[in-house]
Amino acid sequence: MPLPNNPCAGQCPLDRARFLRSTALAALAGIAGAGLLADPAFAQALDSIAPTKSQGRVLTYALPAKDGALIDGDNGVIVARIKNAVYAFSISCPHRSLTRLEWLPDSREFRCPKHDAHFQSDGELIEGRPDRGMDRFALRRAGQSIVIDTAAVLQQDTNHDAWSRAVVAVG
Ligand code: FES
Repeated sequence: MPLPNNPCAGQCPLDRARFLRSTALAALAGIAGAGLLADPAFAQALDSIAPTKSQGRVLTYALPAKDGALIDGDNGVIVARIKNAVYAFSISCPHRSLTRLEWLPDSREFRCPKHDAHFQSDGELIEGRPDRGMDRFALRRAGQSIVIDTAAVLQQDTNHDAWSRAVVAVG
């Protein structure tokens, strides 16, 4: 006998798509409820990095443990360790600053996706439209950390000496 408040009166076909959708939403709600989606470590990409300390525009990062490039997209910083040297680069392409550079781990180069410019791992221009290498930030080592002054943008063409010195040797 059909229930009095049931609109299908016992004749509705099972709506499988709606059932699966509601099940998926319930699962997502469970994940969010557990705090996993809000956890920055959960959302962080493998090659990303975040400062361990911020004081205005001075940012502190853990010293990279191995060669490669780590990207802090929020602050526009790339921290690269190449052959026992650490550099801090601006993520912005020196050709047009709105374009963000990317790291190519296989060739160990940086690339601009807009006009396909390529840079060495130390920021030197290999080929492309920019008229200089990647912009560096002044940096220093503090124990097992790298302290980067993102207010001190060093351009290779206009501040060549400071640009060349913006490197930390690590053993
Ligand atoms: S914007 Fe990067 S090469 Fe043109």
